[in-house]
Amino acid sequence: MLSTERLSPAFPQHSRLDERGRLQIGGCDAIELAREFGTPLYAVAEEDLRARARSYLDAFRARHDDFVVAYGAKANACTAVLEVFAGEGLWCDVASAGELQLALGAGFSPERLIVHGNARTEEELELALGSGAGLVVVDNFDDIDRLERLTSAASGAPAGPAAAHEGQDVLVRVTPGVRPGTHASISTGQADSKFGLGIDDAARAIERIDAIEGLRLLGLHVHVGSQLMELEPFVAAVAAIAPLGSFDVYDLGGGLGVAYGAGEHPPAVEDYVAALVEAVQSALGPGKRIIVEPGRSLVANACATLYTVVSVKRNVSVWVAVDGGMSDNLRPMLYGARYEAQVADRFGDSVPCRLVGKHCESGDVLVHDAALQDPEVGDVVVTPATGAYGLAMANNYNGVPRPAMVFCRDGQARLVVRRETYDDLRARDVS
Ligand code: LLP
Repeated sequence: MLSTERLSPAFPQHSRLDERGRLQIGGCDAIELAREFGTPLYAVAEEDLRARARSYLDAFRARHDDFVVAYGAKANACTAVLEVFAGEGLWCDVASAGELQLALGAGFSPERLIVHGNARTEEELELALGSGAGLVVVDNFDDIDRLERLTSAASGAPAGPAAAHEGQDVLVRVTPGVRPGTHASISTGQADSKFGLGIDDAARAIERIDAIEGLRLLGLHVHVGSQLMELEPFVAAVAAIAPLGSFDVYDLGGGLGVAYGAGEHPPAVEDYVAALVEAVQSALGPGKRIIVEPGRSLVANACATLYTVVSVKRNVSVWVAVDGGMSDNLRPMLYGARYEAQVADRFGDSVPCRLVGKHCESGDVLVHDAALQDPEVGDVVVTPATGAYGLAMANNYNGVPRPAMVFCRDGQARLVVRRETYDDLRARDVS
């Protein structure tokens, strides 16, 4: 029997160890992927992306009539990933003009875009309005000033009762004063935040928007943080915004946590959706449209990064150095995020070691407390759960080209993002 049970939940659902103990992702052999496409390589089980999208849709369908699942594109905005979610019928949450362009290019219809940002210029908002974006989320009073100017200009008349058009649909982003148990850098719901407006300011924003002809306020938005392993903060956020009044639409953001290794148990999607539906129905009333914006929980576990071991040495600790690092996964350095690592054809834990990258910096440690099975130069090492905020935050530190990404499905691998070349590194330089 295939030894799927030896894989932690951090690995894609569509992965397994074959009878030789070699990792297969979406039916593709990890060592062969490394040989064919080179390393570092982001290997994505395409069916895993689809399965996770469907689990959100099914969980809502079973409980609530009016819902929207919008993919939080910031987690991984490559076109192939966006195309999968557009095809599955999701909407898309975009956090910048760039993400908006990527989402449109990947086939999301404009009315399915939810446009975010805490520092949007007039040009960016104009692009959102001009492209017909379904929802613009108001983050601050300056947004309101800009949207007022833009919508009155678009109507060809000054803002006010004279403007005879339905207007741009907007939500107000509220900071609910909920502090979730996650890393401070990815915690957004607390009162002292750069995102959104506190309850009192949100009430003033609502009044202002109501008086602007070109804007139609549909409801509220909250996002308490990311990588949340408990449901209470989501429920608390719903309760916290109830005093602002009754609206048709409540966008509850993203944030559901994922397993980065064995022994981590994030809430199931069904339980998360059930908790949100229950919270909205009891605190805000029946018949509301509920929007969620999952990013990480749709993409993180669908992907594993493949590296090649370049050097193994003992300097007090055993240091296993690979051909990538903080240029393809910044999360350990930014948030102290913990990853699991395995030799792709020798799962096991005989040698406690530090898995480090190739960058000129002592902090370039991918896994501080790795345990690999007899690691050797030339081995392919895999770190699972790198589909979210990996490629999205990849960079060229030390002139390291960013990795390729492949989609693996039924034993077929398809290149969806090509590896950067050395020429790419100077492509924008003007000399
Ligand atoms: N909606 C809004 C308004 C957000 O700000 C975010 C994430 C999401 C949805 C998606 O949240 P998710 O489901 O992915 O937790 N780079 C960090 C994560 C930053 C999250 C920013 N906002 C990391 O690597 O952990």
